[in-house]
Amino acid sequence: MTSPPRSDVEAAVAALRAGRLVILPTETVYGLGAAAGNARAVAAIYAAKGRPRFNPLIAHVQDLAAAERVARLPPVGRTLAERFWPGPLTLVAPARPDGGVCDLARAGLDTVAVRAPAHPVAQALLRAFGAPVVAPSANRSGRPSPTRLADALEETGAAAAVALDGGPCAVGVESTVVAVSDDAPPRLLRPGGVTREALEAVAGSFAPAEANDARRSPGRSTLHYAPDAPVRLNAAAPRQGEAYLAFGPAPPGEAVWSLSPTGDLAEAAANLFAHLRAADRTGPTGIAVAPIPEHGLGEAIGDRLRRAAGWTG
Ligand code: TXA
Ligand code: MG
Repeated sequence: MTSPPRSDVEAAVAALRAGRLVILPTETVYGLGAAAGNARAVAAIYAAKGRPRFNPLIAHVQDLAAAERVARLPPVGRTLAERFWPGPLTLVAPARPDGGVCDLARAGLDTVAVRAPAHPVAQALLRAFGAPVVAPSANRSGRPSPTRLADALEETGAAAAVALDGGPCAVGVESTVVAVSDDAPPRLLRPGGVTREALEAVAGSFAPAEANDARRSPGRSTLHYAPDAPVRLNAAAPRQGEAYLAFGPAPPGEAVWSLSPTGDLAEAAANLFAHLRAADRTGPTGIAVAPIPEHGLGEAIGDRLRRAAGWTG
């Protein structure tokens, strides 16, 4: 990955300062970004995505020092940040009153989600802008997240003043969202690019998610990541008319892709949304997906696939 021409980053900074939206690459998925303190710009994000206003956004910052100006991180939050930032981990913690993330971006909650992305283009933008940038995934609400610039442009490009190209996203599933507090173990709100195993090795066992978490982290509970065609999981083989996503060697056939020919979960995560989109474009009667192991990155892959298949939980 190379950094974009300085002029592109400068154009993006100028757009953010002017209250416009910017498509930016991260290592997980492409985001649709706005200045976190500009409620009008943030409102434009919700409108462009068709996203319900009760679903809060993630504030992207350059590093831990910048995150601490936005959120009051408890010790376990700092420990996780030191180990996994920059990278695909989002921490939810109490918002600082003058933290620079407007009420609308937090959906009125007294907590805020923060993450320091690793992608060099995102880093260059955050460094040059010097303030938090809220950015949900750049898809329209309920659709698969974009992991290529062209997919992001197809989804929400019309709403963006500037789009930065960072190549295909290396991780391919969104960040892991973890709620941290002073007096209780962390809770996993959304599995993602950092595995539960890696997080628990650093922070100790997580608490089970609370009944309230689905309401507080609404990205968990609604139909999400869905292509147009219905998705059928744990399919050993495609049926007549179905496209097929294999895990391991791809069987012969026309509309067949392998998420990873070698059965590698990181490769499968990186290919997941792009292959779902490619399969969907063939206009199949459905998209059948092979069984994927549920350990490591498989937890996030399984979560996204169940939501794409219409599971709401
Ligand atoms: O990898 C990612 O996280 C990407 C890239 C662009 O950084 N962004 C992303 O944003 O996935 P989005 O908006 O699609 O998902 C944000 C998730 C949602 O599930 C939302 O409900 C949750 O974070 N969230 C945000 N603020 C929260 C809060 N204060 N409490 C609980 N959950 C929160
Ligand atoms: Mg999203």
